[in-house]
Amino acid sequence: MKTYLSGIQPSGLLHLGNYFGAIGQHIALQQRPGRHFYFIADLHALTTVRDPEALRRNVFETAATYLSLGLDPQKSVLWRQSDVPEVTEIAWLLSTVTGMGLLERAHSFKDKTARGISASVGLFTYPVLMAADILAYDADFVPVGQDQVQHVEMAQDMAGSYNAVYGEGVLKRPECLLPEAGAAKKVPGLDGQKMSKSYGNDIWIFESGKALKKRVGQIVTDSRPPEEPKDPEGLFLFELLALFLEAGELADWKVKVRRGGPGAPGYGHLKARLAEAMEAWFAPARARREELIANPDRVASVLADGAGRAREQARDVRDRCYRACGLC
Ligand code: ADP
Ligand code: TRP
Repeated sequence: MKTYLSGIQPSGLLHLGNYFGAIGQHIALQQRPGRHFYFIADLHALTTVRDPEALRRNVFETAATYLSLGLDPQKSVLWRQSDVPEVTEIAWLLSTVTGMGLLERAHSFKDKTARGISASVGLFTYPVLMAADILAYDADFVPVGQDQVQHVEMAQDMAGSYNAVYGEGVLKRPECLLPEAGAAKKVPGLDGQKMSKSYGNDIWIFESGKALKKRVGQIVTDSRPPEEPKDPEGLFLFELLALFLEAGELADWKVKVRRGGPGAPGYGHLKARLAEAMEAWFAPARARREELIANPDRVASVLADGAGRAREQARDVRDRCYRACGLC
């Protein structure tokens, strides 16, 4: 039986990039036979979130988002990273067999320091904690977006180093599972750059009504009139439409935009269709989210149950590591 595991940082309201790049894949994978483990990486979030109330709120919001989008607690274990302290114990063990050079090569660290942001030790050792997250559950597959591949490769390296010192088979080597070909690799934001909370160009999954229309209205276009024929492939607005429209309808809009002339759709039409399709796509999940917001105890009980199940597994792996290195 294979184990699938992934984590997401509780960084607040989740956006379309998070959905099409990560959460959607996690939810779809539940259909495969195997064990499914998904957690909220609150310890990792501490490297950036400094407001305790915001962190609590974000953990709840992330859990409610996963559950409303279809994470099924009967099929998957959902928990909060910090409820399993064995992971931080394993992280220490891994740090003793990990070279500084490996961590210095991490994009997450290099990007921040290149931008002049001074890194905390926690940010520097972020990949060690992430490796522990993965190795603590004997994960076979780690579904992540392209931006996390290097971190998973580091987890492979750390498992290899630990096993080289303390014996083959103590830790299991995980593999990355990238979104299937055709799935959105990089969802563009309002300005055409990668959608990201830190760029302020994101669209919240559950945005609706006027607020959604307003947000979608902010998608950057140009001043060409509707009648002017245009290449739809050059418009990132179509990358967003492609996430929600059926192939036939999408092709139809592209033909009209390419042809131009009287009656051709303008950017306003395309944006209105996007807002409408997005709202319909997430409507059932939005209703489930509202129910969960009204019943926060349900969310808390899923997380508590998940923590118990996750902890059992992590304890086994921690004990295996302790025996191997002589701590017991
Ligand atoms: P943000 O950039 O908003 O802080 P995160 O870095 O927390 O988002 O991303 C969480 C997950 O969502 C990651 O697995 C990442 O691969 C995925 N993801 C984030 N933004 C996008 C995007 N624009 N396109 C595709 N996937 C994305
Ligand atoms: N670093 C991941 C991100 O920012 C979140 C994460 C933490 C994770 N631990 C993990 C993902 C373990 C997969 C496996 O998106």
